[in-house]
Amino acid sequence: MVVQESLGSIRERALAELNAADDLPEIERWERAYLGARGEVTLFLRSLGSLPTEERPAAGRAANALKVELAAAHEGRRRGLAAADLERRLAGDAVDVTLPGRAPLVGTAHPVSRMIDELSEIFALMGFQTVFGPEVETGRYNFDLLNIPSDHPARDVWDTIQVETSGAEIVLRTHTSPMQARTMEATEPPVRVVVPGRAYRYEAQDASHEWMFHQLEGLAVDERITMADLKGVLRELARQLFGPERRIRFRCDFFPFVEPGVDFAVDCAICGGKGCRVCKQTGWLEMGGAGMVHPKVLGGVGYDPARYSGFAFGLGIERLIMMRDGVDDVRAFAGNDLRFLRQFAGA
Ligand code: DAH
Repeated sequence: MVVQESLGSIRERALAELNAADDLPEIERWERAYLGARGEVTLFLRSLGSLPTEERPAAGRAANALKVELAAAHEGRRRGLAAADLERRLAGDAVDVTLPGRAPLVGTAHPVSRMIDELSEIFALMGFQTVFGPEVETGRYNFDLLNIPSDHPARDVWDTIQVETSGAEIVLRTHTSPMQARTMEATEPPVRVVVPGRAYRYEAQDASHEWMFHQLEGLAVDERITMADLKGVLRELARQLFGPERRIRFRCDFFPFVEPGVDFAVDCAICGGKGCRVCKQTGWLEMGGAGMVHPKVLGGVGYDPARYSGFAFGLGIERLIMMRDGVDDVRAFAGNDLRFLRQFAGA
């Protein structure tokens, strides 16, 4: 066993290296190199036996003192580095609790859905139940039972999206009116229902036409139902939607499934009926079609037209929103532009 260096120079080198070690793995390597089982200080202590007897006690004391000193220095350095390391990790992970939170992306109900909910509620308060029907219909429900004969222009393929070309008349419903017959077939009077839902037309799109849109159908059948009931219900609807002062107007119109038939309008809430840009100077906003259920429609589902009478109406839901909220292009509703849709997200 040869001791090549004096303890003093080992000490100097060890302390310099310890100071230079700047991470925990390096510190561990340093400990093995000097204080480990095969470390320099350990080997020095083991080599004491080879010294002349008189030198052993002093060399042993000095080596032990160095061992204690280096162990203490090692521990001090290790703690310092561990603390610095922890500080660094904490700083990296730091969360600034004073930052405002990130708002989660939350969807909102579509304006058409909101309007359907609002309409259902208005009609529920007048005793109407909300029901839904199929969007794929047969010619029988979409046309025949509504007194629309085969030669009626509405039955022309240019208006109707045919689903089946094999001869069976299967169509995407062109209006929500087929649910009139379906509802009456399923129940005895009294009937009071509203039917919100999609309707489809084979049509070029523009600011006021969509090939897919929504309607709300209304139907009331009972003994002694009159046009005054129809007018009262539609006036209440107009007032709930557009304000308590609103008046409604009926004008003669033709629909095969009602007699008499009308179109109905509400006086313009913007100008109070005087005429403005919104009502195109007419003072009135068209809401939809209505009338007294045709005796042939009642008879077609097995109701006795001599005993029962009823009214029906239909209105376009997108149109209603456009009128009330000043939307000028119906294509916005299916356009998926969040900037448009979010404007309806409020309470
Ligand atoms: N179904 C008609 C349409 O789509 C609207 C309509 C008019 C419905 C008169 C009715 C009604 O119930 O009585 O144009």
